[in-house]
Amino acid sequence: MTTHYETFSTKEQDVCQAFEESLRAKIATVDSPTTNPGFLSEHCTSLRNYLLQRRHLSQAYIPWVNTALCGLNHSRDTRGKEILRELIQDETPEGLPTHAEDLVADLTTLGIPLETILGTLTHPDTEETVRKQHTLIQYSPQTSFNNLRILVAVRTAGELLPGAEYGIITPLLEKLGLKKSRFYKPHWFHDRKTEGTNQQGMTHTELFSSLLKELICSEKTLDTALTTLQNAAAQRTEFINVTFARYDIKLEKI
Ligand SMILES: [Fe+2]
Ligand SMILES: [Fe+2]
Repeated sequence: MTTHYETFSTKEQDVCQAFEESLRAKIATVDSPTTNPGFLSEHCTSLRNYLLQRRHLSQAYIPWVNTALCGLNHSRDTRGKEILRELIQDETPEGLPTHAEDLVADLTTLGIPLETILGTLTHPDTEETVRKQHTLIQYSPQTSFNNLRILVAVRTAGELLPGAEYGIITPLLEKLGLKKSRFYKPHWFHDRKTEGTNQQGMTHTELFSSLLKELICSEKTLDTALTTLQNAAAQRTEFINVTFARYDIKLEKI
């Protein structure tokens, strides 16, 4: 008999694939992908705009997960808190560059000037994505399953979908000259879902699996998890759609 978690996991796979398809469709519109390493420095393409705005979503990750962490209800079971603390700690490994630094390093390797990377403001549409993302993890003790909703939101928008996203973006960026990715490729591998594949491993998505197997244990908890999954995926898909649609806008600089 299929468990509630297995039903969730299957749906999660479907949602992930639909997200990947929408990103692939956008990537297909990128003009003239070439092996010229200077491509992104010379052309203000939709891809470049996407990468620069996507960086702002990455910048919002630590405060977002911290808010989620603080919104988990106190209980003797601290596993949810421990998972989110680990995610935050992984962003700033001791004695090594932070993930934020690695991201900027990859963008400069792609030929985007540092002043452009750091000077590109957050577009209002990106701010809207960040705002909506916060509603996913809103502390709401009066509603049922506050902890489950928060954990599914962080797994989906913070790990599962970025892992899928970078799995599609990285090969394209490698074609454009990113031979040794410090940010995109490692995140593809350490964020993605591996359950149900022949590459099973303890990725950031999988950190949540055993806890979610316990929490998604009834029709009501399954409903909550599926609603959160779909809301998170809809937000990320919308971000990609509006960001790629903005092909002609001039990048704003300070
Ligand atoms: Fe990271
Ligand atoms: Fe991660």
